Amino acid sequence: MNKKVNVLFVCLGNICRSPMAQGAFERCVLEAGLESLVGADSAGTHAFHVGSSPDKRAIATALKRKIDIAHQRARRVKVQDFRDFDYVIAMDRDNYGTLRYACPAGRQHALHMFLDFSPELRKKEVPDPYYGGDSGFDTALDLIQTASGGLLLDIREAHLSGPEAT
Ligand code: 4NP
Repeated sequence: MNKKVNVLFVCLGNICRSPMAQGAFERCVLEAGLESLVGADSAGTHAFHVGSSPDKRAIATALKRKIDIAHQRARRVKVQDFRDFDYVIAMDRDNYGTLRYACPAGRQHALHMFLDFSPELRKKEVPDPYYGGDSGFDTALDLIQTASGGLLLDIREAHLSGPEAT
């Protein structure tokens, strides 16, 4: 039987990009009927917003695409996450650097840059929309939705090749 594959999306504050990524990816998983086999969560590298709801612009942008992220609450990444999650996915290079530094030996293979799952985008980072206007949230969610599809494909190929997942 396939063990559940757990994915953690990580940004700086866990109120803009990574909550949208969790919501968009969970939507992909549900549409694929894989919710018993693939789980998702999100966290921030910093603690500024721990316990807060996602930014209202992130909630509104996701809701326009029928993705509800209002129930999520921000938390900070912890060392145990590197053991609990099969994929720990950074939105940008800064997040990746922070995660790499904190990651225990033997778990580095779990770290990824999110947009590496969608090489056709020819972009490396999901830009931080926090200090910009609303359009930055749409741009970020466009990238996130594309990369979510690529990530699910990777998970299917690497972990879900058995008959239950087809
Ligand atoms: P996020 O965006 O990392 O996508 O959640 C940010 C949220 C908060 C801050 C910066 C970026 N901040 O400086 O408070």
